[in-house]
Amino acid sequence: MKTRPLFDESAIAKRIKELGEQITRDYAGESLLVVSVLKGAFIFTADLVRQIKAPVEIDFIGLASYEGTQSTGHVRITSDLSAKIEGRNVLLVEDIVDTGKTLDFLRDMFSLRNPKSLRVCSLLSKPEAHQMRTPVDYVGFEITREFVIGYGLDLDQRYRELPYIAQVL
Ligand code: IMP
Repeated sequence: MKTRPLFDESAIAKRIKELGEQITRDYAGESLLVVSVLKGAFIFTADLVRQIKAPVEIDFIGLASYEGTQSTGHVRITSDLSAKIEGRNVLLVEDIVDTGKTLDFLRDMFSLRNPKSLRVCSLLSKPEAHQMRTPVDYVGFEITREFVIGYGLDLDQRYRELPYIAQVL
């Protein structure tokens, strides 16, 4: 498989530090429930929470929607949260927002559980592919429609362990 590097380890670390600083400022005096969307966001979440200087609780929700490089459009919960989200400041952490269908699904599901606030942070975003209603409050990097792997992102469950992000050519 041919790939082209897009963001190396130091570029990712620098951007996550900035996101952490921004989130720390925005939630000053508040505590946060960070909800990491598995599997893709597990590495990003681990790095991001270490840059947020506020009391943070971390939970995970497991979703599956992609097969190969195509969104199936059907989002399936593979494991639900354990934390209660009613009255909490929830920050959803995603690896990448492509069509945004996953995000709309999550927003609808979370809104029913009455959080105090609900925001979204995604490491990557593909604005040209967006079809969603839900805004993304914090974005690491915007990219075009290319398919990317590494730093948590997979192609058929492979390459998540790469420390950098690369485009599949
Ligand atoms: P959406 O519902 O179309 O926004 O798809 C979001 C999910 O699809 C992400 O959380 C990823 O798991 C997956 N995804 C979308 N684009 C890519 C990509 O370029 N590489 C790897 N996974 C992707």
